[in-house]
Amino acid sequence: MLPRFDGRNFTGVTVEMRNAFDRDGVLVLDGLVPTQMCDDLRTHMNGMIQSFDADEHASVFSTTHQTHAQDAYFLSSGHTTRFFYEEEAFDNNGTLNKPLESAINKVGHAMHDTDPVFSRFSRQLAFSELAQGLGIQSPRLAQSMYIFKQPHIGGEVVCHQDATFIRTRPNSCLGFWVALEDATEENGCLWGIPGAHKSDMPKSLFIREGDGTRTHVLDETPYAEEKRVSLPAPKGTVLVFGGLFPHMSSANRSDKSRHAFTLHVIDGDADYPADNWLQRPEDMPFKGF
Ligand code: FE2
Repeated sequence: MLPRFDGRNFTGVTVEMRNAFDRDGVLVLDGLVPTQMCDDLRTHMNGMIQSFDADEHASVFSTTHQTHAQDAYFLSSGHTTRFFYEEEAFDNNGTLNKPLESAINKVGHAMHDTDPVFSRFSRQLAFSELAQGLGIQSPRLAQSMYIFKQPHIGGEVVCHQDATFIRTRPNSCLGFWVALEDATEENGCLWGIPGAHKSDMPKSLFIREGDGTRTHVLDETPYAEEKRVSLPAPKGTVLVFGGLFPHMSSANRSDKSRHAFTLHVIDGDADYPADNWLQRPEDMPFKGF
């Protein structure tokens, strides 16, 4: 069982928090985000879905089948707001078999810059203090995602390290994972491998190459998944973990959704390679808190 900290009265990173983060690779802060803020973000996202033109945008997001990888819609989503469907939301003829709000896997990847509500949520003081307190000198907000983990069809996310996808030299990726609803083992909460983050590089790199991508494997040894622990997160809990912390989540076969918001911050002083999949146009650089 990993230590859990009370985030309700968070005023900065304590020595105990920093020690837990350094030792385990993840920091669990219960109640850091007020539940009303979680509800407001869910309501706002629902409004975005209602005004979304489903015929214009269609892309399936899957970590088990990387069908999205060559998809220009995905590759050009680093500076805008795009919608990705669950794999199981389509029938054999490729027709959507669910209402839109039950069919979307995630929305990404720059709502923190393109949408005022997401910008405010992403730039809340606690996140800025956490980034500074956990060693990011010049924080830059690189990526945001709203993840639905839909009832019955919410897809599995296989074990991975976020630095595979958001790489800097040296590694500086820091992820904030916010439970917008109760996340339990039944509806697909995160799992992680404590202490498995102590390497210099991720096991693989997800590289942009021309109009597509490829995965470059650096270390073929499998993750020690037998050592994984579940990270249940009541609504408002924030999990903070670095880019080298291996984590995963199971499919959601329950009848409860598991909405979450994630924000990834990097250090503006680190080098951001041009072959990272997520790129910004020159006139829209990553910004700070
Ligand atoms: Fe991740």
